Amino acid sequence: MSVRVTILPGDGIGTEVMDAAVAVMEHMAVCFQVDFQSTTRLAGGVSIDDCGVPITDETLQACLDADVVLLGAIGGPRWDDLPHDQKPERALLKLREALGLFTNLRPVKVYDSLVEASTLKPEVVTGIDLLVVRELTGGIYFGEPRGYDRERGWNTLVYTRPEVERIARVAFDLAAKRRGHVTNVHKANILESSQFWREVVQEVHREYPSITLSEMYVDNAAMQLVRDPGQFDVIVTQNMFGDILSDAAAMISGSLGMLPSASLGARHALYESVHGSAPDIAGQNKANPLAMIASVGMMFTTTLDLPQAARVLDRAIDRTLADDFRTADIATTDSTVVSTDQMRDRIIEAFDEEYDRYRHSGSGG
Ligand code: IPM
Ligand code: MN
Repeated sequence: MSVRVTILPGDGIGTEVMDAAVAVMEHMAVCFQVDFQSTTRLAGGVSIDDCGVPITDETLQACLDADVVLLGAIGGPRWDDLPHDQKPERALLKLREALGLFTNLRPVKVYDSLVEASTLKPEVVTGIDLLVVRELTGGIYFGEPRGYDRERGWNTLVYTRPEVERIARVAFDLAAKRRGHVTNVHKANILESSQFWREVVQEVHREYPSITLSEMYVDNAAMQLVRDPGQFDVIVTQNMFGDILSDAAAMISGSLGMLPSASLGARHALYESVHGSAPDIAGQNKANPLAMIASVGMMFTTTLDLPQAARVLDRAIDRTLADDFRTADIATTDSTVVSTDQMRDRIIEAFDEEYDRYRHSGSGG
């Protein structure tokens, strides 16, 4: 199988975690016979420095032409004072819009070996496995009119029926492959757009009799996520609520450095770590590459339809953590603290061992 990949390392630690993830990806490619044709481009602050814009039309085209896009991280204080529409973050929003990436999947899984790394109590986070399904191309992020003057600032929160229906279907379809439960998060007690959202999701739910649906207001959902995250299987929500809740949910796993994500559209897919560019540790070979590596895992499952490869990778990550090899963000007093590069090497070694086991077991199981 031949796959065209456009790689956008971005800013700060983005380049470091991307180097590690691409090395793992190329290693997996050999085992699972995938021929990656990759090309690397600038996006974010580095593109502003080099080309004067967060993302060039040429780079956007390279993403449109690819089967999949990998993105490291974007942004940094150096570019914070630029006008709104010239900030590095615009690159991400443009990509989401141009590629039609309306679904954002942010799985939160707590590896047993990392239970101690969370700031929450072990009994709260043990075994957590939940999925945030965030609508990514609508809502207040994209609504018109928008703007501000000296006296007022305004944005528009609007959702259309097709937008809500398609994200609801994604959530119900994914729940069917998981534990069969969807929590619909909104603010229907206050916002008309949320009343509409709730009604449409309930209508779509009628097509999915085997899935249970609960309704939850977003303020309560934020509280429940830290109080008892075990009650959630799939959370479906609008763009901005999903942005906020997924950061909160990330901390269940101990570090933002652990969280992968997939942004999917009808024809395109982009995989990226949830964490930012971490300018404070950039260039020091300290960043945790596991989120980006796990994002490559999501690519194997979702775009390449090779879930067995992703499972081997997942076991390799689990094993490495269990052996107590940790980057600084997830280290405990017993850990061997490793650099970004060393973590990459450990994962590749563990992958080989797990791949051997997978081949000899003769199944994907
Ligand atoms: C995210 C980020 C982005 C968002 C920013 C950088 C545009 O916070 O992917 O969660 O708000 O969607
Ligand atoms: Mn965010």
